[in-house]
Amino acid sequence: MNANERERIVVSVGGSLIVPDGIDTDFLSRFRALILEKIEAGFSFSIISGGGKTARRYQDAARAVTTLSRTDLDWIGIHATRLNAQLLRNIFVEQAYPHVVKNPTIDIEADEPIIIASGWQPGWSTDYVAVLMAKNLGARRLVNLSNIDYVYDSDPHKNPDAKKIEEIGWADFRKLIPEEWDPGLSSPFDPIAAKEAETLGLEVAIMNGAKLEEFSNYLDGKPFVGTVIS
Ligand code: UTP
Repeated sequence: MNANERERIVVSVGGSLIVPDGIDTDFLSRFRALILEKIEAGFSFSIISGGGKTARRYQDAARAVTTLSRTDLDWIGIHATRLNAQLLRNIFVEQAYPHVVKNPTIDIEADEPIIIASGWQPGWSTDYVAVLMAKNLGARRLVNLSNIDYVYDSDPHKNPDAKKIEEIGWADFRKLIPEEWDPGLSSPFDPIAAKEAETLGLEVAIMNGAKLEEFSNYLDGKPFVGTVIS
């Protein structure tokens, strides 16, 4: 199948799934199997990798030795996303565009059904890179795989009455999250990325990457456990 005939889905894979502490090879094996199955079914994917514990560990180590600016710490995070992206590129060695994309705004002529990208600029998150990638490739759907089942109307760790949200519009979603992005911020989708996604009219589905059958259901247009923002 020609790359242009496939529906391209942008997938932001939270670093907490790839490197929750050590590298989760069980997750990677299951993720690989699902992506290959969906390529057979006619999808193509742009996959953006987060930094996970690798980012945090290296940032903490640098901070323990000297005082660094936020930008310097972000560069360590960006390099962690690149390392994880290289790992993804290699688990899809036969299906992925050979280079990890570091700048999501440049034009890529890829015949391969998978493109792997990493973090780009200090002060950003991989969510924002994923939205820029969707813009560049003209993708209409973005999946954010993280370690939460749903977006809630307040922090479920702090509020036992927090209600899950299955569908929400961008304007209402943006009222739920802080306006400013601070790396390390606990938000289901970062505010700068949300603003850009709203402008693009992108559909973003947020779901738990540990339950990959839900990702499969979402791609197939079936009911799934997760939140759709549109
Ligand atoms: P992310 O915060 O996007 O990855 O990048 P993650 O591991 O998926 O994060 P969680 O699990 O959602 O929290 C890791 C770090 O890399 C830097 C930031 O410091 C960020 O916290 N980064 C990443 C950038 O500065 N720019 C980017 O474009 C991407």
